[in-house]
Amino acid sequence: MCGIVAIASPRTNIVESLLDALTALEYRGYDSAGLALLSPRGLVRHRAVGKVKNLRDTLPALEAAPIGMAHTRWAVMGAATEANAHPQFDGETAVVHNGIIENVGELKSMLPDIIWESQTDTEVVVHLVSSFVRKERDLLAAIKSTVQLLKGTFALVILHKDFPDMLVATKRINPLSVGKSNTGDLFVTSDIAVIPVEQYIDLEDDDVCVMRKRVGEGDFFAEFYTFRHNKLEKIEKTWKDANQTATVTSIGDYKNFTIKEIHEQPNVIQKSINALNRGDYIPIAQEMMNKSAINIIACGSSFYAGLIGKYWLERFGRLLTNVEISSEFNYRYPVITKNSLTLFISQSGETLDTLKAMEVVRAEQGDFAVITNVLQSTMAKAATRHLLDLGAGPELSVVSTKAFTAQLAVLIGVVIQYLKFKDPRAADILQEDFERVPGLLSQVMGQNYHLPLIPNASSILYLGRGICYPIALEGALKLKETTYIHAEGYPGGEMKHGPIALIDARAVSVILAPHNELFNKIVSNAHEVIARGGHVVFFTDAAGNAEFTQRANSTAYVMPSSGPVSEAFVYSLGMQALAYDAAGGLGCDPDRPRNLAKSVTVE
Ligand code: F6R
Repeated sequence: MCGIVAIASPRTNIVESLLDALTALEYRGYDSAGLALLSPRGLVRHRAVGKVKNLRDTLPALEAAPIGMAHTRWAVMGAATEANAHPQFDGETAVVHNGIIENVGELKSMLPDIIWESQTDTEVVVHLVSSFVRKERDLLAAIKSTVQLLKGTFALVILHKDFPDMLVATKRINPLSVGKSNTGDLFVTSDIAVIPVEQYIDLEDDDVCVMRKRVGEGDFFAEFYTFRHNKLEKIEKTWKDANQTATVTSIGDYKNFTIKEIHEQPNVIQKSINALNRGDYIPIAQEMMNKSAINIIACGSSFYAGLIGKYWLERFGRLLTNVEISSEFNYRYPVITKNSLTLFISQSGETLDTLKAMEVVRAEQGDFAVITNVLQSTMAKAATRHLLDLGAGPELSVVSTKAFTAQLAVLIGVVIQYLKFKDPRAADILQEDFERVPGLLSQVMGQNYHLPLIPNASSILYLGRGICYPIALEGALKLKETTYIHAEGYPGGEMKHGPIALIDARAVSVILAPHNELFNKIVSNAHEVIARGGHVVFFTDAAGNAEFTQRANSTAYVMPSSGPVSEAFVYSLGMQALAYDAAGGLGCDPDRPRNLAKSVTVE
């Protein structure tokens, strides 16, 4: 949520590199963008509402500097206006900020003479730093005095006009990393995975990175301090090798990241199959053998993946599983039984609601494992028991596709491993079906899926039973995100208890109907819709299509026949493809839907 990048370089001009890096970070928020440069003209700032392209278009051609920072914003405090865009700047200090300063009112009252130009919390940080610099004449000391006053969460990068060869970065809760490339460029960023660096260091809370120009030389060096215990102490940090490849941030021959990532799914799932075969899930499965319940806590698509995990854990593993949305779990005084294991699922590993849920479980002394796509993330570092890698590679489309199916793949991998201890024959049958998934997904991708959009349709119902119910929830979310059309997932059996009132000639219902033990029941729901004049989009397989002969008012999509494991993947991909097609038809940008951002680091 909001992207930060800063560069200090031996080159004379980093503006293009800064804009390129900011474009790679745009998936974290794209309401407005801005940059500040310590240029030969002094500390200068440029901002624009909207995507990074707008900032690029408004930049004067001659702007050049060896050091600067940039920000792409997802509005939290204050609307998406130029005045609220970052960097916030008072003529002396420029600040880019991710997170929320909670005591902004109290801090503003300490600065009674300031005329506030924005509605942001960040502006108060700017003025505090400037006022401390005026008193202390030392940028690092001024930032320390400022940070000591801040309550809330932040990743900050700060430049000051009187310190023309110096950049300072610090953080609390929100992630911030330092990187270096083999060309001598130093980076600070909120999202190291998409910045092309050879080595990196993740900052811990209250760590400070200072980049300065080497005396008599053109290059910059980084040194590290900590503000912990209210001191300013120099510390040593160890650079780690990064495995980034430039291809990660490029669309290649695809039209956008969404379709690229949809197509990556067979390879991503194969990684979890390999992990299962390597025995990577043995430690967690062994621990589950000693537990009487599993709790899964997550948000959004990750929550829906968790619900699918529950269906598998209870059906195949006979292990009691509770699944909960993090933001609800956090404030309802939940009970964590001693003999349970909690799984936190998060693509980004930075979702604040889920991080807060970790605090709740930790306070109850519960054991927890983390399933994430970002091994450097805050959640990954916090895992007290097991850390399971989604291995999906950076997901740059805001709408989750490959990370969602990777979550399913890790969950079923764990369930199969658990069954290998309890019932090896059952495990073998499930594993055989799991191993078919990459091939089946390639078949699903070979077809087109089209959602008939009825003019004035008020809503689209997604109906499924059994495991297809959480897939229906995920399908409806995908449609909402990519097309802004209201959609709702419902258990098929629940339709008659209320939502059937919505069905008329303008209604479209997407029905997930693999030919499994629930087929006849979900077909009844399809008939109920059609009998009331509604239109049905019927996702089934060859056997289901042969039995569902109702052709009036319905469109059928024939998916490959799937088993009890593979059906979840096949129908999830069908839902992604349907939403993607609808977004294309409506001219919506599936990579950057309005109002959304990747990695939701506010509550
Ligand atoms: C939907 C989507 C979101 C995320 C949710 C949780 O396409 O991407 O619903 O699933 O914000 O994010 P993570 O998994 O990063 O915790």
